[in-house]
Amino acid sequence: MNNQDKINELIKKREQAKQGGGLKRVEAQHKKGKLTARERVEILLDEGSFEEYDMFVTHRCTDFDLQNQQFLGDGVITGHGTIDGRLVYVFSQDFTVFGGSLSETFAEKICKIMDMAAKNGAPVIGINDSGGARIQEGVNSLAGYANIFQRNIMASGVIPQISAIFGPCAGGAVYSPALTDFNIMVKDTSYMFVTGPKVVKTVTGEEVTTEQLGGASVHASKSGVAHFVSNTEEEGLQIIRKLLSFLPQNNLEDPPVYPNVDPINRLDDSLNEIIPENPNKPYDVKDVIRTIIDNNEYLEVQRDYAANIVTLFARLNGQSVGVVANQPNYLAGVLDCNASRKAARFVRFCDAFNIPILTLVDVPGFLPGTSQEYGGIIIHGAKLLFAYGEATVPKVTVILRKAYGGAYDVMSSKHLRGDLNYAWPTAEIAVMGGKGAVEILLGNEIAKITEENERDEFIKVKEAEYRQKFANPYVAAKYGYIDDVIEPRNTRFRVIRAFQSLATKKVLNPPKKHSNLPL
Ligand code: HXC
Repeated sequence: MNNQDKINELIKKREQAKQGGGLKRVEAQHKKGKLTARERVEILLDEGSFEEYDMFVTHRCTDFDLQNQQFLGDGVITGHGTIDGRLVYVFSQDFTVFGGSLSETFAEKICKIMDMAAKNGAPVIGINDSGGARIQEGVNSLAGYANIFQRNIMASGVIPQISAIFGPCAGGAVYSPALTDFNIMVKDTSYMFVTGPKVVKTVTGEEVTTEQLGGASVHASKSGVAHFVSNTEEEGLQIIRKLLSFLPQNNLEDPPVYPNVDPINRLDDSLNEIIPENPNKPYDVKDVIRTIIDNNEYLEVQRDYAANIVTLFARLNGQSVGVVANQPNYLAGVLDCNASRKAARFVRFCDAFNIPILTLVDVPGFLPGTSQEYGGIIIHGAKLLFAYGEATVPKVTVILRKAYGGAYDVMSSKHLRGDLNYAWPTAEIAVMGGKGAVEILLGNEIAKITEENERDEFIKVKEAEYRQKFANPYVAAKYGYIDDVIEPRNTRFRVIRAFQSLATKKVLNPPKKHSNLPL
């Protein structure tokens, strides 16, 4: 073989690897409305930036006659590339090769790029589309999964890890995405579950479809496993690109700062009128957020899960921020188990990756009732409290309206090391709402009034007195718990200046092995 023959051999092998499981299986993939592993990588990364590794890897299994079924690359495409010019590592499971199932060598390829990503401080993006453990490889496949899990764990809080679920992801395979920071699912073609419909039927007798058990909408709205849902794979890949624009490459870097053309002193008069006169009337906190942030532009995380709290990435004067806001438009913005877990994870992510946190507060308290207590609201509420108290990134809080009871403390209060805490003049900061307070404090007196009209009138007067005294920001401001009461229309400017003043903030938590977060 002369040199030219050797080069031709290389070209041929490359072509062969690019064919994956062959034309028929590629066609079947397309017929399902799915892209191939390679097409996904091309769309995800900047054009021409992909550098592939391990194209010539093949499996080592000799059981079930597998030695006669070899595919170059062994069902997963791995390598690095760029997104908006910034380095990322990628693996993309190829369903056309043994159903994207994970072999020993397949796992080694993934581990290799995870190690490279950790070493070079760059995000890892995993595109999942797999029938799970390669059945023929038995325990070697299980070992491969665990090797990936261990790397997910070590990389957690060091480099951003993002999982796209673009097909099946079942059994123990779900735990790698679960360990990563964000999961993106596609409507209709992706699903995730620990045990599939057949096993469910056998064990519990329950009849359920794949979609009902683990489709994108289920994980977006009921379980909270999916952080984003897209209509198409292309859209899902664009979400990943947008998400990364808010994030640093690793925990030692700051997020990128983008040029900002939105005036920082832009006043928004609509904010002066956004809080309804009636304290029980809702409004959409996203209207407040949109007017404060740069160019109305944001990326919402877990939009359809626990909608009573909003978590999103945005920019203020070009600088990434994580925004956490109670949503009065949904369950009055109450804190329940799911909202607490959702916000706690988001706060911890922001803190791990040096993203300052803006908290907008309008919370009537924690949701009462047996379902919440039995569901562990004590533990889940504590998670959010813990996350805020532990976070050392700049924290700016604005109380828009209600901040009642324990929820006042939890929502990035001064007492949990909130750096700058503002309130609108419409803020109500107290132990509880007027009605509850009057009923508890004056219960005996109320009981003595036999005439119903008279009793109602008495309660009304006392409630008004209580509201007059406590339902305002000035009692908290008197104690310095609120740094200033600000005019709503000026919020963007005040918040941006607050974050500017905190740019050099340095706070260290005491040295420890790790905290004992209430899990
Ligand atoms: C080896 C597999 C495979 C697997 C699919 N294939 N899953 N090969 N190991 N786990 C192969 C098929 O033989 C077939 O090969 C090709 O992939 C496509 O599969 P189809 O069944 O034709 O595709 P489809 O009808 O779309 O169904 C997809 C599927 C189904 C729902 C994923 O294949 C399936 O149920 N697979 C098994 C899933 C499973 O039980 N996995 C183990 C889970 S336990 P050909 O040659 O015909 O193209 C697990 C433990 C992990 O994963 C533990 C970690 C801790």
